[in-house]
Amino acid sequence: MSTSTTRWAWVEVDTDAVCNNVAHLCSLMAPSEVWVVVKADGYGHGALRVARAAIDGGATGLCVALVEEGARLREAGVEVPVLILSEQPPSQSADIVRHGLTATIASRAGLMSLNSAAAAHGVVAAVHVKVDTGMHRAGVDPKDAINLVTAVHEADNLALAGVFTHFACADEPDHEANARQLATFNRVIDDIRATRINPGRVHAANSAAALTMSTARLDMVRVGIVTYGLVPGSGVASYCGEFRPALAVKAQVSAVRTIEAGDAVSYGLRRAVSRTSTIATVPVGYADGVPRGLWATAQEVLLRGQRCPIAGTVTMDQLMIDVTECGGVQVGDVVTLIGADGNDAVTVSEWATSVGTIDYEIVCGMSARMERRYL
Ligand SMILES: Cc1ncc(COP(=O)(O)O)c(C=O)c1O
Repeated sequence: MSTSTTRWAWVEVDTDAVCNNVAHLCSLMAPSEVWVVVKADGYGHGALRVARAAIDGGATGLCVALVEEGARLREAGVEVPVLILSEQPPSQSADIVRHGLTATIASRAGLMSLNSAAAAHGVVAAVHVKVDTGMHRAGVDPKDAINLVTAVHEADNLALAGVFTHFACADEPDHEANARQLATFNRVIDDIRATRINPGRVHAANSAAALTMSTARLDMVRVGIVTYGLVPGSGVASYCGEFRPALAVKAQVSAVRTIEAGDAVSYGLRRAVSRTSTIATVPVGYADGVPRGLWATAQEVLLRGQRCPIAGTVTMDQLMIDVTECGGVQVGDVVTLIGADGNDAVTVSEWATSVGTIDYEIVCGMSARMERRYL
């Protein structure tokens, strides 16, 4: 593990877990390809390390949200196809082409901008066309898809490498929109094939759809959250048991003190203790990605394998825990905020439930000032 002593708080990332999760996905999805989504710095885990682990595990492509995310992968020597998941501003076209990234096209303007950039660069650029089958966030309307695909097919400097869509409700496997979106998408693909245009890789499934809708796996799946061993939503949790979480959040106790019954800690002195209590300060706060709201549910952390509650409001850089039941806690002791310690583990989902959000927001919220240590 790479270590540093610059801070008493860090994020630990188990890249073997990512590699094993991807390998397991590949065996479940075969013969469909697995492309791993590493946008938002690999959902907070570190995009480059995740990308390498995913490729080792069998991923044949990667997906990002931004050109700069793809460019960083290329600059680090990643050679597999990298798909940018939605159309980008025309100002980015030259960089997309220069870095050999695969653009998503959803409009004529996007097509023309990319075709010009590819021509100026003297290359034929691979593109995927995105179809909006019902999520209404990005993509060409299904009735216009055939025209856009034909225009890509006819553009001198573009090559149609894929056509895809995205589900709005895949984390609710029984939602009627799933089948409706897939049927719409399949009709678009049939129309494309009927014109004798090869759509390239046809894809629709995120993690939830990949796990729960075998008919949506098509040529490839675009999986993010489950790669990281996390859960797309409670409706899919039963499909996720075989995946191992890759991320842990740890810190070392920076101070220990005793407070008397009736006293309280942190801003607002909000929750008085009912007995003489031992309070440990943990130097990690909401600026690091620990949601302030965790204090209200007295979210527990692990110390020496035992659960200890957060004792007062989470501050920007520090929080306090009640370690009265722990006994003998000292400065330097390791606190596990997310992850396993002994026989117990605090999960990302526990935090997410506690503050009313989803696993995605918790891990993407781990700030850059938290050093990533790779196992
Ligand atoms: C277009 C697209 N495909 C795939 C994914 C991956 O989703 P998940 O992390 O649920 O697998 C995302 C993530 O937001 C996305 O926007």
